[in-house]
Amino acid sequence: SRAVSSMPEPCRSSPFSDDESRDIDWDSLGFGLLPTDYMYVMKCSEDENFERGQLSRYGNIELSPAAGVLNYGQGLFEGLKAYRKEDGGLLLFRPHDNALRMRTGAERMCMPSPSVEQFVDAVKQTAIANRRWVPPSGKGSLYLRPLLVGTGPVLGLAPAPEYTFLVYASPVRNYFKEDSGALNLYVETKFDRASRGGTGGVKTISNYAPALKAITRAKSRGFSDVLYLDSVNKRTLEEVSSCNIFLVKGNVISTPATSGTILPGVTRKSVIDIARNRGYEVEERAIDMDELSDAREVFCTGTAVGVAPVGSITCLDKRIEYQTGAGTTCQELYSTLVGIQTGTTEDKIGWTVEI
Ligand code: COI
Repeated sequence: SRAVSSMPEPCRSSPFSDDESRDIDWDSLGFGLLPTDYMYVMKCSEDENFERGQLSRYGNIELSPAAGVLNYGQGLFEGLKAYRKEDGGLLLFRPHDNALRMRTGAERMCMPSPSVEQFVDAVKQTAIANRRWVPPSGKGSLYLRPLLVGTGPVLGLAPAPEYTFLVYASPVRNYFKEDSGALNLYVETKFDRASRGGTGGVKTISNYAPALKAITRAKSRGFSDVLYLDSVNKRTLEEVSSCNIFLVKGNVISTPATSGTILPGVTRKSVIDIARNRGYEVEERAIDMDELSDAREVFCTGTAVGVAPVGSITCLDKRIEYQTGAGTTCQELYSTLVGIQTGTTEDKIGWTVEI
């Protein structure tokens, strides 16, 4: 039987062989859900610690209609990727950072959270059990989506009495569908993403559905996504709905400082370190929207997005264009990052975890 309960715990192998992935059309991957074989589930009550989770076959979960996550949005998610090396081995990229970010978010959302070790072990087990779904080198990656949600029933507004930590996976390639590879962003002046004292700096599920209105409007006008401004003065740059933003001018790279309303991206901080190591000056600070006109290049970073060049930004009906393609800073940082993630460039800092 392929029942995962018959596997020794912790699971270090998959009952499927890599050969069983030969029918998957890797070239048609985008960023849509392709259900895989297993997910990891671990539960705990509000006054307990998470104890032992386990893999089960990927499938629907049962929830009380009164679950905290359904009624009041008490939930967090994470995103990280497993990459296949040229020799067939698998690498995770900075899973401890995602684990720590989930712990910070859980504190903000009044939830218990798995320990860093539990988080990383769950992610490893999920990646290994679904290893036949990790695309060949150069064809994408296996996106791992850890969730922490209040699944116990509540009626009045209060923390849920039970929590579920779950990890599922899907093979992915490019997040955006742009043919040229470069994004065309629209500066959003009506809707805000986050406000001071809110939850913009943690990865709560409730930050994302409110962005749909602006994204849908921008897409209907031919843009890839929107760039948000601060909610007080509507002047300084914040982030794009699904990623952080960087401006390049001369040898200086600038990105909005993470002061509570901006998600502290793992790719964001990795790119900052790579850029500094390569001799760029990197500034984390408040960036006025007028500075968009002075930049030579703009690019976005995120786990799903990777490092993506921005071809244009439309701000108050003025379209500003940027350099993209060969020889750009964006390309240089992208290639270095992907090299480390896929094991073709030496990982001197210890960001990757071989599984
Ligand atoms: C990620 O980049 O992993 C995210 O969580 C963004 C999401 C909108 C896909």
